[in-house]
Amino acid sequence: MAIDIEDLAKRRGFFWRSSELYGGISGFYDYAHLGFMVKKKWENQWRNFFIRLDENYYEIQPCQTMTEEVFQASGHLASFVDPIAKCKKCGFSERADHILEDRLHETFEGISSEDILKLIKKHNIRCSKCKGELSEVGELNLMFPVKVGTGKDARQCYLSPETAQGAYVNFLQEFHILRRKLPLGLAIIGKAFRNEISPRNALIRMREFTQAELQIFFDPDTINEHPKFDEIKNTKLRLFLVKNRGQNKIMEMPAIEVVEKIKIPKFYVYHLAKIQEFYTNIMEIPPEKFRFRELSEEERAFYNKYHFDIELDIPDIGFKEVAGLHYRTDHDLAGHEKISKQSQNINIEGKKFIPHVLEISMGVDRNVFAILSMFCDEEKTTVEINEQNDSDRIVLRFPRRISTFDSGIFPLLKKQGLDEKAKQVKNMLSDEGFSVFYDEAGSIGRRYRRIDEIGVPLGITIDHQTLEDSTVTIRDRDTMKQVRVEIKNLVSKLRNYFKGESL
Ligand code: GAP
Repeated sequence: MAIDIEDLAKRRGFFWRSSELYGGISGFYDYAHLGFMVKKKWENQWRNFFIRLDENYYEIQPCQTMTEEVFQASGHLASFVDPIAKCKKCGFSERADHILEDRLHETFEGISSEDILKLIKKHNIRCSKCKGELSEVGELNLMFPVKVGTGKDARQCYLSPETAQGAYVNFLQEFHILRRKLPLGLAIIGKAFRNEISPRNALIRMREFTQAELQIFFDPDTINEHPKFDEIKNTKLRLFLVKNRGQNKIMEMPAIEVVEKIKIPKFYVYHLAKIQEFYTNIMEIPPEKFRFRELSEEERAFYNKYHFDIELDIPDIGFKEVAGLHYRTDHDLAGHEKISKQSQNINIEGKKFIPHVLEISMGVDRNVFAILSMFCDEEKTTVEINEQNDSDRIVLRFPRRISTFDSGIFPLLKKQGLDEKAKQVKNMLSDEGFSVFYDEAGSIGRRYRRIDEIGVPLGITIDHQTLEDSTVTIRDRDTMKQVRVEIKNLVSKLRNYFKGESL
């Protein structure tokens, strides 16, 4: 049994249910101080990695309240629906495909309402609240409607269920300002809203959440090429193909073979390789806990031609989607052209066309939750400080890049000048850009335990020897190894450590 992440998150200050003072509402969570730090660091790593894939990629920040026409154009108004099963006895509604998943341990995304009802009847699945009969399966649109303005001027709007539409409605203006070049990338890190029928698993299925999405606008005639394809052609991609689902088999296939044997275009495969690099190198996810899940035609979102989801193996949950790579063709821009009656054609050297879109879409909260769960470890240990007995050590072994604080600073005692010296060291490190946590309460052993549990990689202790020879002890969270370092060398020691060196 893995550690209860929601409990740890609440106890230590990562996240908790929103408006708890009034009982909370399912699917809404507030980030507390530590969770917000990890989230910001995750987002910055995402920016650093994906926006730098090309010099013509930029970040924008559009509004997420958008007019009804936007979602007519995108198809969300008609098609962004989930199946719901209703209990005849108590009236309780549940997400119908999830009821089947829970009971039959298979995925049922994309299955029709009639087929769901047949399976419910066949397996005699009853209401989870009152065991009544589930007699109806209908559909519910997941968007939150908002009326903006008052009286006859009020306008029907929706909270956007994805950040992507903000990039599409801004594409033409950005294209013209940015010297009419393709590919053009517009990245957005922003909120998305979905009235999920059954929010669950904390940050995994929420009603208000953050997405990090990159929309890459490109010429469809160039889909079979990518100028940097050779750099990744031998990268072995971890694929969970539709045809291998029965055997539950993940294949490792070099990128070039994915192009040649599975016939997926180079432009798409290049981005698969980059996404895998982001997860395994930057986020340090062990490769065996990462896979690309190919979606069948029925499972794909209504706008996608090629679609692989990125799944991570999360303790107590199993492989779960945290992101997707979507080839959306010209679905959205053509839709906006039709509804707005404004041409979305561009003209490059006499060639007129609507660009196609490749979308890298990631749920930030889902990734943060996955990382918290996957790096949380509980070990039996003999503690290094004699004031504590043997006990379990909970350690968040976060990658250094996305740890909460970079280090904790601890005066051995809060007197005899040790506290003043510790604050001087803290200020010196803060001035150099490190995020530092100061703690003078309790035994050193307990203080180490506390930073282990919140994922801080280094503990720096100021003791009596510090006053004599200007050295401090640095203790590594993962190895619990301690080294003595001169204060004058501390900044460079930390810099090297955060570049990947060991202590
Ligand atoms: N723009 C495409 C899009 O929104 P999606 O598969 O619906 O595609 C992308 O969502 C990602 O957003 C998912 O892979 C997941 O990480 C995250 N996501 C989707 N629904 C979510 C929810 N209700 N709560 C938290 N994250 C969610």
